[in-house]
Amino acid sequence: MLGGILSAIVVVGGFFGDEGKGKVVAYLAIKRRIQLAVRCGAINAGHTVVYRGRTWKLRSVPSAFIYPGAQLGIAAGSLIRLDVLFKEIEETGCRDRLCVDYNAGIIEEEHALREKSSNHLATTIGSTLQGVGEAMVDRVRRVLKLARDSPELKDYTCDLAGKVNEYIDRGSEVLIEGTQGTFLSLYHGTYPYVTSRDTTASAFLSEVGVGPKKVSEVIVVFKSYVTRVGPGPLRGEIPFEEAAKLGWIEYGTVTGRPRRVAPFDFELAKRAVTLNSATGVAITKIDALFPEVRGLRDRSKLPRSVREWVEKVESTLKVPVKLLGTGEDVEDAIYLGDED
Ligand code: IMP
Ligand code: MG
Repeated sequence: MLGGILSAIVVVGGFFGDEGKGKVVAYLAIKRRIQLAVRCGAINAGHTVVYRGRTWKLRSVPSAFIYPGAQLGIAAGSLIRLDVLFKEIEETGCRDRLCVDYNAGIIEEEHALREKSSNHLATTIGSTLQGVGEAMVDRVRRVLKLARDSPELKDYTCDLAGKVNEYIDRGSEVLIEGTQGTFLSLYHGTYPYVTSRDTTASAFLSEVGVGPKKVSEVIVVFKSYVTRVGPGPLRGEIPFEEAAKLGWIEYGTVTGRPRRVAPFDFELAKRAVTLNSATGVAITKIDALFPEVRGLRDRSKLPRSVREWVEKVESTLKVPVKLLGTGEDVEDAIYLGDED
């Protein structure tokens, strides 16, 4: 812990999304007994949580739902679709502990229709066409419907920004779950092949309504290789067949599209650490590089090969590796941070 000062922990994607933030957030929520967790972003981003034989694919509800002690929130800057939200509330059984900020935005059918009719978005950008960007456009035009305007949400809406700050002020840790990845950022990513929001740590704080002074940790999540869905630069990209041989083939959670693949990119990772002021990193799918650690949970059994790779990451990025993912399950992980 941090000398008794409890405050916000922000979890951010370090590459192009799909690094495994869902798993990392769920792990941290349990490990740190998080009392309030807030999801940012929108329904274009799917977070997968596999826990004790069950799998959830979440586009709105925070992955921290897995820890029953956590209150859950959806940030003011996020965009939700009512049918998606209600389905996830059912699937996760989180009805009684979920709060949607009054100011969260509502995506409607017309937003997705507008995107689907845009050749630029569909073809050039490779958008997930979930209506997120068009809803953002309406928000900027100040015509978007908000959660507070939706009678269906009356049992869920609250002043989440106020609640987050109250929790922090009374000494609780609040987990902020970012979405997508640093290089899909509208500002810092590979424009124009980016999403419709900033996806760095500061942006998620702004989405929630908490200032930078109240942040204790920024955890940037990398996967042991890089994937990208849709077009745009991907340094070191390897052919699909080669990726298949390595076992690095994945499909998009929301769109089902195959993901493009490249090896771990140290330069890109360094840039992500800089853009997010990372205090630590988590690396998922370490078993894709070192199959012998698949499912390993015991830190003392980490082979030398993995320890050396982790040291290389730490000496290049100049931040500590706090967590390694060794399998799909939330508990398939090795915590390398300080024990508290
Ligand atoms: P949009 O945000 O749906 O318009 O998509 C813009 C670009 O970001 C496309 O290349 C998408 O594939 C990518 N993208 C958006 N959300 C995610 C995500 O959660 N994971 C990975 N890629 C994403
Ligand atoms: Mg994803």
